[in-house]
Amino acid sequence: MKTVITYGTFDLFHVGHVRILKRLRALGDRLIVGISSDEFNAIKGKKSFFSYAERAEIVSSCQYVDEVFPEHNWEQKRADILKYQADIFGMGHDWQGKFDDLSDICQVVYLERTEDISTTEIKRSLSLITPEQLHELEHSVHSMVEVMNVILKSTNR
Ligand code: CTP
Repeated sequence: MKTVITYGTFDLFHVGHVRILKRLRALGDRLIVGISSDEFNAIKGKKSFFSYAERAEIVSSCQYVDEVFPEHNWEQKRADILKYQADIFGMGHDWQGKFDDLSDICQVVYLERTEDISTTEIKRSLSLITPEQLHELEHSVHSMVEVMNVILKSTNR
C-alpha cells in the first residue's frame, strides 16, 4: 500500500487542482491531502473565498482523494508524513526544491503545474468589469441624475 501526501489551499477548486490530484493519486494507492486552515491562510497573508470547511468538503469529494486534514502551520509536515506513513510527498513545481529536507523520510516529487490557471487568476478575471457592465452602470448613473434633476426642479418651484 503506497501512500501519497500533498498540501494546498485548493480555493475555487479548478481543473489545475483536479489534474494534480489525479497525477498524485496515480503515483500510489492512497492520496491524503492537507488543506490550509483559514488561520494558516491568514498567516500566509491569503484570504480564501471558501472557508476551510467548504474547501475540505469539496476536495474530499474528488474521486482521487482518500482523506483530507487541516494544515495549521509550516512545521507539521514531517509529523503528518510519519503519522500517515506517507511514501511520497508531492507538490506542484511552483514549490520546486522547497521541501527537499523531507527526503530523509519519504520520496519528494514536484509535478508540472497546469498552465494558465490558478485561483489568483480566477479571482482577478472575476473582479474585472466588462464593457457591457460599464455601459449599464453609466446608463444607471445617467438615469439617476435625470431623476434627481426632476426632484430638484420640483422642490425649487
Ligand atoms: N496546481 C497545479 N496547477 C495549477 C494550479 C495549482 O498543479 N494551475 C497545484 C499547485 O502546484 C499545488 C496544488 O495545485 O500543488 C494546490 O495549489 P493552490 O495554491 O491551492 O492553487 P493555486 O491555483 O495555485 O492558488 P493560488 O493562485 O492562490 O496560489
